[in-house]
Amino acid sequence: MKLYTYILVGMLCCAEVMSAADNPVTITTPTTALMVNAPEGGDLRLVYYGKNLGADGLGQLLETRNNLNRSLYPAFGDVTGGETALRVIHSDGNPTTELKISGVEQESLPDGTLTSINMQDRHYPFYVDVYYRSYDSSDVIETWTKITNNEKKPVTLTQYDSGTISFYRGDAWLTHLNGSWAAECNMVEEPLDWGMKVIKNKGGNRNGHGDHPEVMISLSGKPREDYGEVIGAVLSWGGNFKMRLDSDNNSVQTLFAGINEEAGEYVLEPGKSLMTPPLILTFSDEGKGGVSRNLHRYARLDGKLQKGNETRPILLNSWEGIRFDVSQEKMDEMMADFSALGGEMFVMDDGWFGEKYPRNNGSQGLGDWMIDRRKLPGGIAGLIKSAHDKGLKFGIWIEPESTNSRSELMEKHPDWALQTKNRNPHYGRGGTQLLLDLCNPKVQDMVVNMVDTLLSNNPGIDYVKWDMNVALSNYGSTYLKSDRQTHIYVEYQKGLNNVLERIKKKHPDVLFQACGGGGGRVSYAMMPYFGEFWVSDNTDALQRIFMQWGMSQFYPSNSMAQHVSEVPNQCTGRVTPFKYRFDVAMSGRLGLELIPSELTDEEKDMAKKAIGEYKGIRETVQTGDLYRLLSPYDGGPVTSLMYVSPDKRKAVFFAYKLQHFNNEILPHIKLTGLDPNKVYHVREINAGNRKHELDGKNVKGDVLMKAGLDPRLYSEYASRVLEFTEI
Ligand code: DGJ
Repeated sequence: MKLYTYILVGMLCCAEVMSAADNPVTITTPTTALMVNAPEGGDLRLVYYGKNLGADGLGQLLETRNNLNRSLYPAFGDVTGGETALRVIHSDGNPTTELKISGVEQESLPDGTLTSINMQDRHYPFYVDVYYRSYDSSDVIETWTKITNNEKKPVTLTQYDSGTISFYRGDAWLTHLNGSWAAECNMVEEPLDWGMKVIKNKGGNRNGHGDHPEVMISLSGKPREDYGEVIGAVLSWGGNFKMRLDSDNNSVQTLFAGINEEAGEYVLEPGKSLMTPPLILTFSDEGKGGVSRNLHRYARLDGKLQKGNETRPILLNSWEGIRFDVSQEKMDEMMADFSALGGEMFVMDDGWFGEKYPRNNGSQGLGDWMIDRRKLPGGIAGLIKSAHDKGLKFGIWIEPESTNSRSELMEKHPDWALQTKNRNPHYGRGGTQLLLDLCNPKVQDMVVNMVDTLLSNNPGIDYVKWDMNVALSNYGSTYLKSDRQTHIYVEYQKGLNNVLERIKKKHPDVLFQACGGGGGRVSYAMMPYFGEFWVSDNTDALQRIFMQWGMSQFYPSNSMAQHVSEVPNQCTGRVTPFKYRFDVAMSGRLGLELIPSELTDEEKDMAKKAIGEYKGIRETVQTGDLYRLLSPYDGGPVTSLMYVSPDKRKAVFFAYKLQHFNNEILPHIKLTGLDPNKVYHVREINAGNRKHELDGKNVKGDVLMKAGLDPRLYSEYASRVLEFTEI
């Protein structure tokens, strides 16, 4: 059903002082509203983004001049001196653009509305459509643009953001993530002061190592978990991005978000359009926790995170256990032992392929996706049979976007790797790794065929870990024309999406994990094709608490792969108790990454019990609402979080000791998100020698939330997991 804008004007136009030309357009969700002013022939300006004030309240905004009045998609030429979202060099060399509104349409869609606001340059046949797609079920509004060139000759886009959102100055704070290999998703919180804060990535093909395109803006003071107005903004783009938070020396601050235009000028041919990636917006007055829950709910919608509504199997991944030393015997042994512990899926990591260049280390074989029969005489079929015989599902590792200079693929098709003319190649991992040229449709076909053949020939593969261990560092494509080389960053992402879309269509049931040499591929852009992310190659339980906390700001728990590994930890050398490692991994998607036969009998016993317990709490942990209680970033000795099922009948509480000193002050923790009137039976999971006093008791939700509980974490690396079930 289409609701044209004049209907909206009719609904909202009650203001005497509202200019006759005003054309307020509102995009609402149950608890939020975004209002723009889109007068025909005039400029598009943001009036308001925040709590839904109802039709009457929203109608008063322009009337009372309570108006942010900020240009929503400022183009260079429209604005002089200020920050812009769009910069275009027109076909006659004119570097300015003046966009005026030519139409507004709004239609209802399942779970929300789609609003399009059409703009046209005052002189040139050059168009920008701004879109808003609202989702009632998660209080999220996506915005993006379609930029169209109908001039007779090409135009060049030197800036092409997805959108902007403005807010009043005050004591606004920014929450964002950064990190690097083995130290991903660090949460940073800082006041948004004068000047401009820029968050960006230039890695080319993955943006989880470094700054992330996900931010929260707490509008009134230091970020809080459970109160205060907060805007959440996520750019769904897997390549170079830029987010600018500009304080333009007055009372309003603005977030500009989009593809990073640096070294990425984009030439639009006549008759062609460029769609910018969605900027996902949400607002909550329940603090950062409210924004996270909105985003998690959105991520779980159909078409967003792959299998977003479903829980994940408990798996054992072979990597930290055996690295490249793959063999049928070792796999058989790990599978049998994991099955005895109650495991559900075995994933064979790197090292299983290559004939002429066997994949015995990171320096060769990528691209040669034939099984290495010297290691696996029974082939993949043999492994799948072995897994199934032991009651396990089977998953496999691939890295299809990469190759090594030492590979049969590169011998046959040296032009299929990205490469810069007249320059020596930059090699990645192993001193030989290169990125394939996914701008090239032939390379796209090759990757699709490889994955399709692997999955079609082996229908017993239920899970694929798709890795990506090299950045886009060779700036050149033999496929793109010489005067279109600056399209590489955009065309690579388009090529990748094309590949992933085709594979998803053919193999919708296979669960895919996105890995990027650890957490390099943690990105909303990957969600439609991947159901989970490898958080980090660093599986040290203590450091993982910080990374998982950071990631949980934006990503739901069933997307966070968390594995119990051996000690001393392979990254940090730290030794933590087995229970601590399990308790930390069990707060997301639980897995193991070790050789089970190397566990002591006591550890095997504990692992078996913990895996069994996890099956009972999995649904609540993986699909429940997250409430973060005590942040590890606050510097205290304890951190805590909990999940509550949507019907509030079940909850799981986690608390971990972060540091240990004699006579330290330990916190009393108030639970959140429970039903105050329900009575919950408390049961400790993975209990150590001294069970928690609440174990076996029945307690009212109100008491747990108002009086709180003492997690009783008295020793180094102590941890508690408590399950609450309505009686
Ligand atoms: C990097 C990944 O992050 C690891 O988990 C593992 O899959 C290796 N690559 C394999 O080469």
